[in-house]
Amino acid sequence: MRTIETATKGGRIGRAVSLVCVDCGSTEQDLSGRCRACQGLVDAVYPQSDAALGSEDTDVLETYWDLLPIPRRESCRIAIEPTPTVLLTELDGVPIWAKVEGVLPTGSTKDRLIAVSLPLMVERGIERFVFSSTGNTAAAYAWGLQRYPELSARVYVSEEVPDTQLGPRTDQLEIVRVKGDYVEAGHRARDGIRPGEVPEGGFFNLGRREGAKLAYLEAFDDVAHAGGRIDTVVQAVASGLGIVAAARAVQQSSAVRSWGKGPRLFCAQQTSCSPMVKAYRALLSGTGERLPEKLPSGLAAAILLGDPFSSFDYVARAVRESTGGFVDVTSSEIAAALQRHNHEAPMGDAAAVALASVYRLWEQGDLRGSEGVLVALTGGPGR
Ligand SMILES: Cc1ncc(COP(=O)(O)O)c(C=O)c1O
Ligand SMILES: [Zn+2]
Repeated sequence: MRTIETATKGGRIGRAVSLVCVDCGSTEQDLSGRCRACQGLVDAVYPQSDAALGSEDTDVLETYWDLLPIPRRESCRIAIEPTPTVLLTELDGVPIWAKVEGVLPTGSTKDRLIAVSLPLMVERGIERFVFSSTGNTAAAYAWGLQRYPELSARVYVSEEVPDTQLGPRTDQLEIVRVKGDYVEAGHRARDGIRPGEVPEGGFFNLGRREGAKLAYLEAFDDVAHAGGRIDTVVQAVASGLGIVAAARAVQQSSAVRSWGKGPRLFCAQQTSCSPMVKAYRALLSGTGERLPEKLPSGLAAAILLGDPFSSFDYVARAVRESTGGFVDVTSSEIAAALQRHNHEAPMGDAAAVALASVYRLWEQGDLRGSEGVLVALTGGPGR
């Protein structure tokens, strides 16, 4: 069994974290972190922890160290400061809390993801990795790689993504422009692996998911400190990594344990590119039909993933187990949400998709009796 021994933290001896395939239970992974036996999703299994955010904390990797799968603290070179959790509004008395991720260094929640995935790659002995991006992950890696001079990467990005979305230029990140959409960029990344290179893994990258989880651990602690309770979570999804990460945070959060039942998880998409919403409806109606969106379009470019079906089952399972759901919103609903709240918290179009979905859930009556909603504002303006 492959076990990562965590190092000491603050004089305490760390505990063992094991990595297990959620599909077949195997504990063998390839370098990208996927199950060797079935190519399934590998998660970390932790002993229960009471780790919680303190008011003075300046690096959440330190705060939640017991809930991270990184072997040694020394390999973490990117500190992530907690982001604000703000009470944005109330809808018929239901508090709407927002997690404001646009304040992170490259303007999106992706900074957390790479702060955890980079040290894990170093620990695995990876030297060069390959991935695809709609822009925000590329920007986060371009920024983060500067702290990891021993690593380099190649990213495939649609030619439609403006250069300005891709973060600082660095020799450590080679950018390949692709004719076509994000799905095509993903194919190119998968087919373009050369000797000595490792697929980064995308949704299947454990470090990414564990990094994304931190936003939720933080938000649950912040709301608990403010005396609130979250029973509904909404995030905009492309692959659904953020929502799967939220489900992990729910399992592991000491704040959620004190609330009793975990929150319902809702995935938000824009109507013009909503393959997950449609596939979930098809699951509920029994047809099980899954149709990739051939020409993804919409305001929120960061979440334009037309074919999310390598991750959909994991996302749908997390949503179903939470008794949550999938929502889609139109361009005018997205614009209205931006107009209502963008002066209160920095947010881009993907964040506005989630916020517009909160309003939609409220109008549909899905927030009746709710004690509190958490909406993840995953990116700032332009993100
Ligand atoms: C700002 C922002 N929000 C949300 C997402 C959703 O991503 P996922 O569903 O893959 O977690 C992305 C992905 O690129 C993003 O950049
Ligand atoms: Zn497996």
